[in-house]
Amino acid sequence: MNTTRHRVPSSHNDNHSSVAAVASAVDKPPSSGTIRRAIVFLLLISFSCFVFYRSVRSSSSSSSILSRIFPSFDSFQSLEIEEPSLEDVLRRAATKDNTVILTTLNEAWAAPGSVLDLFFESFGIGEGTSKLLEHLVIIALDAKAYSRCRELHKHCFSLETVGVDFSGEAYFMTRSYLKMMWRRIDFLRSVLELGYSFVFTDADVMWFRNPFSRFYKYGDFQIACDHYLGRSNDLENRPNGGFSYVRSNNRTILFYKYWYGSRIKYAGYHDQDVLNFIKKDPYITHIGLRIRFLNTAYFGGLCEPSKDLNLVCTMHANCCFGMDSKLHDLRIMLQDWRDFMSLPFRLKHSSGFTWKVPQNCSLDSLRRYDWIDEEESEPPRGTEQ
Ligand SMILES: *[C@@H]1O[C@H](CO)[C@@H](O)[C@H](O)[C@H]1NC(C)=O
Ligand SMILES: *[C@@H]1O[C@H](CO)[C@@H](O)[C@H](O)[C@H]1NC(C)=O
Repeated sequence: MNTTRHRVPSSHNDNHSSVAAVASAVDKPPSSGTIRRAIVFLLLISFSCFVFYRSVRSSSSSSSILSRIFPSFDSFQSLEIEEPSLEDVLRRAATKDNTVILTTLNEAWAAPGSVLDLFFESFGIGEGTSKLLEHLVIIALDAKAYSRCRELHKHCFSLETVGVDFSGEAYFMTRSYLKMMWRRIDFLRSVLELGYSFVFTDADVMWFRNPFSRFYKYGDFQIACDHYLGRSNDLENRPNGGFSYVRSNNRTILFYKYWYGSRIKYAGYHDQDVLNFIKKDPYITHIGLRIRFLNTAYFGGLCEPSKDLNLVCTMHANCCFGMDSKLHDLRIMLQDWRDFMSLPFRLKHSSGFTWKVPQNCSLDSLRRYDWIDEEESEPPRGTEQ
């Protein structure tokens, strides 16, 4: 221990916050050197380093000095300041076969007691679903949604779009609703390009069972339906973009580009409508995309509930307008599930237990807002939350 014999520099008060002072102190010749002096010296060194570190951190221009001394300083600093990249977030959340579960979230849905809380609750009371949260990435569309995500969840990604405010309740078919939906399609394309397959789920889809065993082995693009006609490859099925399973490959990447590009040809339409327009296009056959529609027996919703609770995987609060109605019916749906789960095994299969929803949600409540500017028609923010 050489340093224990070094002498305390007499000038330490003047420049204890510079590297030179520390260096020259170390160079001073050893003196008689009592243990007590050595301890004082060590304390001073620690203090100097502390002060030095603080002063460097408060002036960015000298951070290069620190990174020359501690080569890992830069990476340490950038980790602390910069948000993780999409690639990092996906990698951390992905399953072994590079699959993630994605949902998008805005301020209105993130608020305490709102949709996000019910979404998490479903994972908690579902059968074998809580472990799936490990693979869920929440894509926050505004700052409030992002900070709420950070409070509650491990994997959050901020996708703020400059000049667009997605934070309010997005009314069906208003202009900001359309922008939000199309932003989502473009974003999902970028996830596929990074090599990740995904289950996309709206946060108003309740997860009651692990859905992976119900996906088709050979489908590239699999999507839930408002109405399911009975055959998984029947293009007349009415898809709902609130729940889909998409494998990352060249066909799906081309398909998402084509879908996103088609918003120009079908200006003013919802991504789901455009999907219905393009699903029979020769281009889709040309790229060889295998589309599969998911049976509402497993992937139901308020439009067409999964009849048998022994089979249901997910239930979507589709066919619903207005936040109050949606939350009302989602809460009843969760209670229905709890009631079902508390039945004895035999009764689960013989009692003919069914959902008590829809109640306040119904197709009739789905007021149309087509082609109307939200600036003219939307009630003030907060009235419907
Ligand atoms: C796309 O196709 C090319 C050439 O056939 C192949 O090398 C590449 O791995 C494919 N990419 C994906 C994501 O499947
Ligand atoms: C649900 O509907 C009932 C009956 O129409 C109504 O009294 C109640 O206020 C509604 N609740 C919500 C949250 O919309």
